[in-house]
Amino acid sequence: MAELEADPHGLFRAWRPRLPFVAHETGSVLVLRAEDVERLGRDPRLKATETAYPVMRGIPEGPLFDIFAHGMFTANGTVHRRRRSPFTRTFATRLIAALRPHIRGTAEALARECLMEGEVDLVARYTSLIPARTIADLLGLPPADIPRFTRLAYEVSRVLSYTFGPHDIPDLVKAAGELQDYVAAILDARRQAPRDDFLSHYLAETEAAGELTPLEVVIQLVLMIIGGTDTTRVAGAMQVALLLQHPEQWETVCRDPGLIPGAVTEALRYEPSVASTARVTLEEVAIGETVLPPGVMVMLSLMSALRDEAVYVEPDRFDIRRVDHPRLHPIFGGGVHRCIGEALARVELEEGLAVLTHLIPRLRLAGAMPRVQGHSGIRRIDALRVAC
Ligand code: HEM
Repeated sequence: MAELEADPHGLFRAWRPRLPFVAHETGSVLVLRAEDVERLGRDPRLKATETAYPVMRGIPEGPLFDIFAHGMFTANGTVHRRRRSPFTRTFATRLIAALRPHIRGTAEALARECLMEGEVDLVARYTSLIPARTIADLLGLPPADIPRFTRLAYEVSRVLSYTFGPHDIPDLVKAAGELQDYVAAILDARRQAPRDDFLSHYLAETEAAGELTPLEVVIQLVLMIIGGTDTTRVAGAMQVALLLQHPEQWETVCRDPGLIPGAVTEALRYEPSVASTARVTLEEVAIGETVLPPGVMVMLSLMSALRDEAVYVEPDRFDIRRVDHPRLHPIFGGGVHRCIGEALARVELEEGLAVLTHLIPRLRLAGAMPRVQGHSGIRRIDALRVAC
Protein backbone atom coordinates (compact mmCIF):
# COMPACT_ATOMS: atom_id res chain seq x y z
CA MET A 1 0.00 0.00 0.00
CA ALA A 2 2.93 2.35 0.69
CA GLU A 3 3.99 1.87 -2.94
CA LEU A 4 0.47 2.73 -4.13
CA GLU A 5 0.34 5.83 -1.94
CA ALA A 6 3.69 6.98 -3.34
CA ASP A 7 2.67 6.82 -7.00
CA PRO A 8 -1.00 5.92 -7.53
CA HIS A 9 -1.24 7.25 -11.10
CA GLY A 10 1.91 5.35 -12.10
CA LEU A 11 0.75 2.03 -10.67
CA PHE A 12 -2.79 2.37 -12.03
CA ARG A 13 -1.30 3.12 -15.46
CA ALA A 14 0.87 0.01 -15.30
CA TRP A 15 -1.87 -2.29 -13.97
CA ARG A 16 -4.91 -1.13 -15.98
CA PRO A 17 -4.11 -2.80 -19.34
CA ARG A 18 -3.25 -6.10 -17.63
CA LEU A 19 -5.71 -6.33 -14.74
CA PRO A 20 -9.34 -5.21 -14.33
CA PHE A 21 -8.83 -5.10 -10.56
CA VAL A 22 -6.17 -5.68 -7.91
CA ALA A 23 -6.55 -7.23 -4.47
CA HIS A 24 -5.98 -4.65 -1.77
CA GLU A 25 -4.25 -5.63 1.44
CA THR A 26 -7.31 -4.55 3.46
CA GLY A 27 -9.25 -7.45 1.92
CA SER A 28 -11.15 -5.35 -0.63
CA VAL A 29 -10.57 -5.26 -4.38
CA LEU A 30 -9.73 -2.08 -6.28
CA VAL A 31 -11.46 -1.86 -9.68
CA LEU A 32 -9.35 -0.01 -12.25
CA ARG A 33 -11.08 0.33 -15.63
CA ALA A 34 -13.55 3.11 -16.46
CA GLU A 35 -16.12 0.79 -18.00
CA ASP A 36 -16.19 -1.47 -14.90
CA VAL A 37 -16.22 1.48 -12.48
CA GLU A 38 -19.18 3.03 -14.28
CA ARG A 39 -21.09 -0.27 -14.64
CA LEU A 40 -20.54 -1.50 -11.08
CA GLY A 41 -21.50 1.88 -9.57
CA ARG A 42 -25.02 1.30 -10.92
CA ASP A 43 -25.23 -2.52 -10.72
CA PRO A 44 -28.03 -3.73 -8.37
CA ARG A 45 -25.93 -6.83 -7.57
CA LEU A 46 -23.74 -4.52 -5.49
CA LYS A 47 -24.95 -2.35 -2.64
CA ALA A 48 -23.67 0.57 -0.59
CA THR A 49 -21.48 -0.64 2.24
CA GLU A 50 -23.67 0.17 5.27
CA THR A 51 -21.40 -0.61 8.24
CA ALA A 52 -19.09 -3.10 6.51
CA TYR A 53 -16.37 -0.50 5.98
CA PRO A 54 -15.96 0.80 9.58
CA VAL A 55 -16.17 -2.76 10.89
CA MET A 56 -13.43 -3.84 8.45
CA ARG A 57 -11.28 -0.91 9.64
CA GLY A 58 -11.69 -1.72 13.34
CA ILE A 59 -14.46 0.78 14.22
CA PRO A 60 -17.40 -1.38 15.38
CA GLU A 61 -19.35 1.28 17.35
CA GLY A 62 -19.39 4.91 18.49
CA PRO A 63 -19.91 8.26 16.78
CA LEU A 64 -17.67 7.48 13.80
CA PHE A 65 -19.44 4.16 13.23
CA ASP A 66 -22.78 6.03 13.47
CA ILE A 67 -21.94 8.10 10.39
CA PHE A 68 -21.90 4.88 8.36
CA ALA A 69 -24.81 3.26 10.23
CA HIS A 70 -27.16 6.24 9.94
CA GLY A 71 -25.91 8.24 6.93
CA MET A 72 -27.26 8.35 3.36
CA PHE A 73 -24.03 7.59 1.53
CA THR A 74 -23.73 4.07 2.96
CA ALA A 75 -27.48 3.32 2.95
CA ASN A 76 -29.56 1.26 0.56
CA GLY A 77 -33.11 1.16 -0.84
CA THR A 78 -35.88 2.99 0.97
CA VAL A 79 -33.60 3.86 3.90
CA HIS A 80 -31.32 5.72 1.48
CA ARG A 81 -34.26 7.52 -0.14
CA ARG A 82 -35.66 8.63 3.23
CA ARG A 83 -32.33 10.09 4.27
CA ARG A 84 -31.53 11.79 0.94
CA SER A 85 -34.91 13.18 -0.12
CA PRO A 86 -35.09 16.12 2.37
CA PHE A 87 -32.03 17.59 0.57
CA THR A 88 -32.87 17.08 -3.09
CA ARG A 89 -34.86 20.30 -3.53
CA THR A 90 -32.23 22.52 -1.89
CA PHE A 91 -29.44 21.07 -4.03
CA ALA A 92 -31.38 21.07 -7.33
CA THR A 93 -29.38 22.56 -10.22
CA ARG A 94 -31.92 25.36 -10.81
CA LEU A 95 -31.85 26.57 -7.21
CA ILE A 96 -28.08 26.29 -6.95
CA ALA A 97 -27.70 28.36 -10.15
CA ALA A 98 -29.50 31.20 -8.37
CA LEU A 99 -26.71 31.22 -5.75
CA ARG A 100 -24.04 31.97 -8.35
CA PRO A 101 -23.89 35.76 -7.81
CA HIS A 102 -23.70 35.25 -4.05
CA ILE A 103 -20.88 32.70 -4.40
CA ARG A 104 -19.07 35.05 -6.75
CA GLY A 105 -19.35 37.81 -4.14
CA THR A 106 -17.83 35.50 -1.52
CA ALA A 107 -14.95 34.63 -3.87
CA GLU A 108 -14.34 38.30 -4.76
CA ALA A 109 -14.13 39.34 -1.10
CA LEU A 110 -11.65 36.54 -0.39
CA ALA A 111 -9.55 37.30 -3.48
CA ARG A 112 -9.25 40.96 -2.49
CA GLU A 113 -7.98 39.91 0.95
CA CYS A 114 -5.37 37.66 -0.74
CA LEU A 115 -4.33 40.55 -3.00
CA MET A 116 -3.59 42.71 0.03
CA GLU A 117 -1.24 40.08 1.43
CA GLY A 118 0.87 39.48 -1.67
CA GLU A 119 1.78 35.87 -0.95
CA VAL A 120 -0.68 33.41 0.59
CA ASP A 121 -1.58 29.78 1.04
CA LEU A 122 -4.51 29.67 -1.35
CA VAL A 123 -5.98 26.56 0.33
CA ALA A 124 -6.27 28.23 3.74
CA ARG A 125 -7.25 31.68 2.48
CA TYR A 126 -9.41 30.93 -0.55
CA THR A 127 -10.28 27.44 -1.77
CA SER A 128 -11.34 26.10 1.63
CA LEU A 129 -13.32 29.22 2.52
CA ILE A 130 -15.52 29.40 -0.60
CA PRO A 131 -17.22 26.02 0.08
CA ALA A 132 -17.18 26.53 3.86
CA ARG A 133 -18.92 29.92 3.67
CA THR A 134 -21.33 28.66 1.05
CA ILE A 135 -22.43 25.58 3.00
CA ALA A 136 -22.75 27.75 6.13
CA ASP A 137 -25.00 30.18 4.22
CA LEU A 138 -26.99 27.41 2.57
CA LEU A 139 -27.69 25.43 5.72
CA GLY A 140 -27.84 28.40 8.09
CA LEU A 141 -24.72 27.70 10.18
CA PRO A 142 -23.12 30.71 11.92
CA PRO A 143 -20.12 31.94 9.83
CA ALA A 144 -18.15 32.32 13.09
CA ASP A 145 -18.29 28.52 13.45
CA ILE A 146 -16.43 27.88 10.17
CA PRO A 147 -12.99 27.23 11.71
CA ARG A 148 -14.53 24.77 14.15
CA PHE A 149 -16.72 22.75 11.81
CA THR A 150 -14.18 22.65 8.96
CA ARG A 151 -11.41 21.42 11.30
CA LEU A 152 -13.71 18.63 12.49
CA ALA A 153 -14.93 17.79 8.97
CA TYR A 154 -11.38 17.50 7.56
CA GLU A 155 -10.43 15.26 10.47
CA VAL A 156 -13.47 12.97 10.18
CA SER A 157 -13.13 12.65 6.40
CA ARG A 158 -9.76 10.92 6.90
CA VAL A 159 -11.75 7.81 7.82
CA LEU A 160 -12.54 7.32 4.12
CA SER A 161 -8.89 7.00 3.15
CA TYR A 162 -6.89 3.84 3.60
CA THR A 163 -3.94 5.66 5.09
CA PHE A 164 -5.09 5.99 8.69
CA GLY A 165 -3.90 3.39 11.17
CA PRO A 166 -5.31 2.01 14.45
CA HIS A 167 -3.43 4.71 16.39
CA ASP A 168 -5.40 7.43 14.50
CA ILE A 169 -8.82 6.01 15.37
CA PRO A 170 -9.25 7.76 18.78
CA ASP A 171 -8.70 11.17 17.14
CA LEU A 172 -11.14 10.42 14.32
CA VAL A 173 -13.77 9.14 16.78
CA LYS A 174 -13.33 12.23 18.96
CA ALA A 175 -13.76 14.54 15.96
CA ALA A 176 -16.87 12.63 14.80
CA GLY A 177 -18.38 12.97 18.29
CA GLU A 178 -17.63 16.69 18.43
CA LEU A 179 -19.08 17.30 14.97
CA GLN A 180 -22.29 15.48 15.92
CA ASP A 181 -22.53 17.43 19.19
CA TYR A 182 -22.01 20.66 17.26
CA VAL A 183 -24.81 19.86 14.79
CA ALA A 184 -27.13 18.65 17.57
CA ALA A 185 -26.62 21.90 19.49
CA ILE A 186 -27.39 24.02 16.41
CA LEU A 187 -30.54 21.99 15.79
CA ASP A 188 -31.63 22.43 19.41
CA ALA A 189 -31.20 26.18 19.05
CA ARG A 190 -33.41 26.14 15.92
CA ARG A 191 -36.01 24.05 17.70
CA GLN A 192 -36.20 26.74 20.42
CA ALA A 193 -36.14 29.64 17.96
CA PRO A 194 -37.03 28.67 14.38
CA ARG A 195 -35.93 30.93 11.53
CA ASP A 196 -36.71 31.09 7.83
CA ASP A 197 -33.71 28.97 6.89
CA PHE A 198 -32.82 25.49 5.69
CA LEU A 199 -32.19 24.05 9.16
CA SER A 200 -35.54 25.19 10.56
CA HIS A 201 -37.45 23.84 7.53
CA TYR A 202 -35.46 20.59 7.62
CA LEU A 203 -36.30 20.11 11.31
CA ALA A 204 -39.96 20.95 10.87
CA GLU A 205 -40.38 18.72 7.82
CA THR A 206 -38.48 15.70 9.14
CA GLU A 207 -40.22 15.89 12.51
CA ALA A 208 -43.65 16.22 10.87
CA ALA A 209 -42.96 13.30 8.52
CA GLY A 210 -41.57 11.20 11.37
CA GLU A 211 -39.46 9.20 8.94
CA LEU A 212 -36.02 9.94 10.38
CA THR A 213 -34.73 9.20 13.87
CA PRO A 214 -33.16 12.14 15.75
CA LEU A 215 -29.71 10.62 15.11
CA GLU A 216 -30.42 10.31 11.36
CA VAL A 217 -31.47 13.98 11.29
CA VAL A 218 -28.09 14.93 12.77
CA ILE A 219 -25.95 12.55 10.70
CA GLN A 220 -27.26 13.75 7.30
CA LEU A 221 -26.16 17.27 8.23
CA VAL A 222 -22.78 15.97 9.35
CA LEU A 223 -22.44 14.38 5.90
CA MET A 224 -23.43 17.61 4.18
CA ILE A 225 -20.75 19.47 6.12
CA ILE A 226 -18.08 16.89 5.28
CA GLY A 227 -19.17 16.44 1.64
CA GLY A 228 -19.65 20.16 1.16
CA THR A 229 -16.25 21.31 2.41
CA ASP A 230 -13.33 18.91 2.09
CA THR A 231 -13.85 17.62 -1.46
CA THR A 232 -14.32 21.05 -2.98
CA ARG A 233 -11.41 22.75 -1.21
CA VAL A 234 -9.00 20.14 -2.63
CA ALA A 235 -10.56 20.41 -6.10
CA GLY A 236 -10.43 24.22 -5.97
CA ALA A 237 -6.76 24.21 -5.09
CA MET A 238 -5.78 21.61 -7.67
CA GLN A 239 -7.49 23.37 -10.56
CA VAL A 240 -5.55 26.57 -9.85
CA ALA A 241 -2.27 24.70 -9.30
CA LEU A 242 -2.66 22.73 -12.55
CA LEU A 243 -3.41 25.85 -14.56
CA LEU A 244 -0.45 27.71 -13.06
CA GLN A 245 1.72 24.71 -13.84
CA HIS A 246 0.57 25.06 -17.47
CA PRO A 247 0.92 28.85 -17.86
CA GLU A 248 -0.26 28.91 -21.48
CA GLN A 249 -3.57 27.35 -20.37
CA TRP A 250 -3.83 29.77 -17.42
CA GLU A 251 -3.36 32.70 -19.80
CA THR A 252 -5.94 31.29 -22.21
CA VAL A 253 -8.50 31.06 -19.42
CA CYS A 254 -7.67 34.61 -18.29
CA ARG A 255 -8.36 35.83 -21.83
CA ASP A 256 -11.47 33.70 -22.40
CA PRO A 257 -13.70 33.03 -19.36
CA GLY A 258 -15.84 30.82 -21.61
CA LEU A 259 -13.19 28.14 -21.09
CA ILE A 260 -13.72 28.03 -17.31
CA PRO A 261 -16.28 25.18 -17.17
CA GLY A 262 -13.97 23.05 -19.36
CA ALA A 263 -11.00 23.86 -17.13
CA VAL A 264 -12.96 22.82 -14.03
CA THR A 265 -14.07 19.57 -15.67
CA GLU A 266 -10.54 18.71 -16.80
CA ALA A 267 -8.96 19.45 -13.42
CA LEU A 268 -11.56 17.23 -11.74
CA ARG A 269 -10.48 14.46 -14.10
CA TYR A 270 -6.74 14.94 -14.05
CA GLU A 271 -6.20 15.23 -10.28
CA PRO A 272 -9.48 14.25 -8.61
CA SER A 273 -10.25 15.10 -4.99
CA VAL A 274 -12.19 11.86 -4.48
CA ALA A 275 -10.20 8.75 -5.37
CA SER A 276 -12.75 5.97 -4.94
CA THR A 277 -16.22 4.92 -3.91
CA ALA A 278 -17.13 1.66 -2.19
CA ARG A 279 -19.69 -1.09 -2.70
CA VAL A 280 -20.24 -4.66 -1.44
CA THR A 281 -21.23 -7.59 -3.68
CA LEU A 282 -24.66 -9.05 -2.87
CA GLU A 283 -24.24 -12.03 -5.19
CA GLU A 284 -21.63 -13.38 -7.61
CA VAL A 285 -20.29 -10.64 -9.90
CA ALA A 286 -17.84 -11.13 -12.77
CA ILE A 287 -15.11 -8.58 -13.32
CA GLY A 288 -13.11 -9.55 -16.37
CA GLU A 289 -12.68 -13.30 -16.13
CA THR A 290 -12.87 -13.49 -12.35
CA VAL A 291 -16.10 -14.08 -10.47
CA LEU A 292 -16.26 -12.36 -7.09
CA PRO A 293 -18.35 -14.13 -4.42
CA PRO A 294 -21.02 -12.30 -2.39
CA GLY A 295 -19.78 -10.15 0.49
CA VAL A 296 -16.65 -8.72 -1.15
CA MET A 297 -15.84 -5.04 -0.53
CA VAL A 298 -15.29 -3.45 -3.95
CA MET A 299 -13.49 -0.10 -4.21
CA LEU A 300 -14.29 1.62 -7.51
CA SER A 301 -11.19 3.63 -8.39
CA LEU A 302 -12.42 6.91 -9.88
CA MET A 303 -8.81 8.00 -9.93
CA SER A 304 -7.80 5.16 -12.22
CA ALA A 305 -10.97 5.36 -14.35
CA LEU A 306 -10.39 9.07 -14.99
CA ARG A 307 -7.05 8.30 -16.67
CA ASP A 308 -8.29 5.27 -18.61
CA GLU A 309 -6.90 5.38 -22.14
CA ALA A 310 -10.02 3.52 -23.33
CA VAL A 311 -12.00 6.74 -22.68
CA TYR A 312 -9.53 9.64 -22.86
CA VAL A 313 -7.01 10.38 -25.60
CA GLU A 314 -3.58 10.84 -24.00
CA PRO A 315 -5.07 10.66 -20.49
CA ASP A 316 -1.88 11.87 -18.80
CA ARG A 317 -2.07 15.19 -20.65
CA PHE A 318 -3.84 18.08 -18.85
CA ASP A 319 -5.89 19.80 -21.53
CA ILE A 320 -8.74 22.18 -20.75
CA ARG A 321 -9.96 21.96 -24.35
CA ARG A 322 -10.43 18.19 -24.16
CA VAL A 323 -13.64 17.04 -25.85
CA ASP A 324 -13.72 13.39 -24.76
CA HIS A 325 -15.28 13.82 -21.30
CA PRO A 326 -18.30 11.55 -20.77
CA ARG A 327 -21.61 13.40 -20.44
CA LEU A 328 -21.80 12.55 -16.74
CA HIS A 329 -18.47 13.26 -15.07
CA PRO A 330 -17.33 10.05 -13.29
CA ILE A 331 -15.84 12.07 -10.42
CA PHE A 332 -19.33 12.54 -8.95
CA GLY A 333 -20.03 8.80 -8.80
CA GLY A 334 -22.95 6.96 -10.31
CA GLY A 335 -26.33 5.40 -9.62
CA VAL A 336 -28.55 6.49 -6.76
CA HIS A 337 -25.60 7.76 -4.71
CA ARG A 338 -24.39 10.17 -7.38
CA CYS A 339 -23.19 13.30 -5.62
CA ILE A 340 -26.06 15.48 -4.43
CA GLY A 341 -23.70 18.47 -4.34
CA GLU A 342 -22.43 18.31 -7.94
CA ALA A 343 -24.20 21.47 -9.12
CA LEU A 344 -23.04 23.36 -6.04
CA ALA A 345 -19.45 22.13 -6.35
CA ARG A 346 -19.32 23.17 -10.01
CA VAL A 347 -20.63 26.67 -9.30
CA GLU A 348 -18.12 27.10 -6.45
CA LEU A 349 -15.24 25.84 -8.58
CA GLU A 350 -16.23 27.89 -11.63
CA GLU A 351 -16.76 31.10 -9.70
CA GLY A 352 -13.61 30.54 -7.63
CA LEU A 353 -11.59 30.26 -10.84
CA ALA A 354 -13.42 33.06 -12.66
CA VAL A 355 -12.67 35.53 -9.87
CA LEU A 356 -8.95 34.67 -9.71
CA THR A 357 -8.44 34.84 -13.47
CA HIS A 358 -10.32 38.14 -13.59
CA LEU A 359 -8.86 39.89 -10.52
CA ILE A 360 -5.38 38.36 -10.30
CA PRO A 361 -4.31 37.25 -13.80
CA ARG A 362 -0.65 37.61 -12.79
CA LEU A 363 -1.09 34.90 -10.11
CA ARG A 364 1.80 32.40 -10.01
CA LEU A 365 3.05 29.51 -7.92
CA ALA A 366 5.30 30.71 -5.11
CA GLY A 367 6.60 27.25 -4.29
CA ALA A 368 6.46 23.68 -5.48
CA MET A 369 3.29 22.16 -6.91
CA PRO A 370 1.12 20.93 -4.03
CA ARG A 371 0.97 17.18 -3.67
CA VAL A 372 -2.48 15.61 -3.58
CA GLN A 373 -2.10 12.45 -1.57
CA GLY A 374 -4.21 9.35 -1.35
CA HIS A 375 -5.51 6.62 -3.62
CA SER A 376 -8.85 6.04 -1.83
CA GLY A 377 -11.69 8.08 -0.37
CA ILE A 378 -11.22 11.87 -0.15
CA ARG A 379 -7.65 12.85 -1.08
CA ARG A 380 -5.53 15.30 0.91
CA ILE A 381 -3.64 18.41 -0.03
CA ASP A 382 -1.12 20.35 2.05
CA ALA A 383 -0.78 23.97 0.98
CA LEU A 384 -0.75 25.96 -2.26
CA ARG A 385 1.57 28.94 -1.91
CA VAL A 386 0.92 31.57 -4.55
CA ALA A 387 2.14 35.08 -5.28
CA CYS A 388 -0.73 37.47 -6.06
C1 HEM B 1 -15.54 18.50 -6.14
C2 HEM B 1 -16.41 18.27 -5.21
C3 HEM B 1 -17.10 16.95 -4.95
C4 HEM B 1 -16.76 15.70 -5.35
C5 HEM B 1 -15.56 15.28 -6.19
C6 HEM B 1 -17.75 14.79 -4.82
C7 HEM B 1 -17.78 13.43 -5.06
C8 HEM B 1 -18.81 12.59 -4.64
C9 HEM B 1 -18.93 11.20 -5.01
C10 HEM B 1 -17.98 10.42 -5.89
C11 HEM B 1 -20.07 10.73 -4.42
C12 HEM B 1 -20.69 9.34 -4.60
C13 HEM B 1 -20.29 8.36 -3.55
C14 HEM B 1 -20.75 6.96 -3.89
O1 HEM B 1 -21.16 6.66 -5.01
O2 HEM B 1 -20.68 6.14 -3.00
C15 HEM B 1 -20.63 11.80 -3.64
C16 HEM B 1 -21.75 11.70 -2.86
C17 HEM B 1 -22.17 12.68 -2.01
N1 HEM B 1 -21.76 13.99 -2.00
FE1 HEM B 1 -20.28 14.78 -3.13
N2 HEM B 1 -18.66 15.52 -4.10
C18 HEM B 1 -18.30 16.84 -4.16
C19 HEM B 1 -18.97 17.91 -3.60
C20 HEM B 1 -20.05 17.79 -2.74
C21 HEM B 1 -20.74 18.89 -2.12
C22 HEM B 1 -20.45 20.36 -2.39
C23 HEM B 1 -21.69 18.34 -1.29
C24 HEM B 1 -22.70 18.97 -0.40
C25 HEM B 1 -23.02 20.15 -0.30
C26 HEM B 1 -21.58 16.90 -1.41
C27 HEM B 1 -22.34 16.01 -0.70
C28 HEM B 1 -22.43 14.66 -1.01
C29 HEM B 1 -23.33 13.74 -0.34
C30 HEM B 1 -24.25 14.06 0.83
C31 HEM B 1 -23.17 12.49 -0.97
C32 HEM B 1 -23.92 11.20 -0.67
C33 HEM B 1 -25.07 11.05 -1.64
C34 HEM B 1 -25.82 9.75 -1.49
O3 HEM B 1 -25.30 8.81 -0.92
O4 HEM B 1 -26.97 9.70 -1.93
N3 HEM B 1 -20.59 16.62 -2.30
N4 HEM B 1 -19.86 12.94 -3.82
